[in-house]
Amino acid sequence: MTTFYLDGQAFDSAEDESVLETLIRSGSSINYSCKKGACKTCLVQHVSGELSAGSQRGLTARLKANHYLSACQCQPVEGLKLKTVFEQDLFVSAQLLERVFLTESVLKVQIKSSENLHCYAGQYINLRRFDGLTRSYAVAKVLDGNVIELHISRKYNGQFSGWLFSTASIGEHLLIQGPLGQCIYKEAYQQDKLILIGHGAGIGAVIGIVEQALAMSHQAEIYLYHGARTVAELYLHKKCLSLMLAHKNVHYRACITATSQADLIDKRCLQIQPFELAAKEHPINRHNRVFLCGEAEAVVKAQQQAFLDGFEYAKIHVLPFEYKDLRSVKRG
Ligand code: FES
Repeated sequence: MTTFYLDGQAFDSAEDESVLETLIRSGSSINYSCKKGACKTCLVQHVSGELSAGSQRGLTARLKANHYLSACQCQPVEGLKLKTVFEQDLFVSAQLLERVFLTESVLKVQIKSSENLHCYAGQYINLRRFDGLTRSYAVAKVLDGNVIELHISRKYNGQFSGWLFSTASIGEHLLIQGPLGQCIYKEAYQQDKLILIGHGAGIGAVIGIVEQALAMSHQAEIYLYHGARTVAELYLHKKCLSLMLAHKNVHYRACITATSQADLIDKRCLQIQPFELAAKEHPINRHNRVFLCGEAEAVVKAQQQAFLDGFEYAKIHVLPFEYKDLRSVKRG
């Protein structure tokens, strides 16, 4: 048993329990989502005592300098003192500006932040609603500095996505934390061949990264793949085709992953996993750079395969959409 303190209150953690697991078991109202150190919704602040290795893994230099740590990644050490973070320390206020159905299961949402967050397509933000429920979403586009566009898939039992799809109204008050993540285009990549794969609604962020690259005068070839289960889910097919027509260095492939699709020929789609096709079309080369965005399982699998195939780890940029059905998680 190890005792640590949060806001002066003592908590006894069982062996191998993280700070977050102890707080959940004790019925504390801490926010969390991924439990993997990715979403940063469980941040707390270090006051005193020894910190276990990895407690601050993946945090930005600014968050580390301000003594933040992820409760889900922190193994408590006897006497560790922590304090909760005030919303205003990490979040800025925002409003729901627009909600448009792109398909039955993908919603385009625009959020207007009260300040310019300097974020880019391929990063992600944490959105918090009135009751504290918080979820991470990928940035597909940034308009006028402080309007952020997200493409959100409807999740089975998804509390936040379900609310956005059916109940949230325009003007709704929200809080934003971020931006977070580094799956973004940088000027230093201008001469690299870019291979970008969007799985499901990940295509929104992928197109945002392509548009960013084109705006920064990217020189080399850009290969864009969209992996969708069905033809109907290729919701940005026309947009991808127009990008290909407008820019001679942009190439687009639509990949259908379900087993039978009658209209594959009409849409000029291929029935193959997008990473499998990309690997066939682009032999490993040190000038290739890969971006993978979308459904976590597909992204992580492609990331592992790219690494095993010989891609430099630093040239594989990923934005997996982690999802947890929190109603199946036992609390307290
Ligand atoms: S719950 Fe700790 S980082 Fe996501």
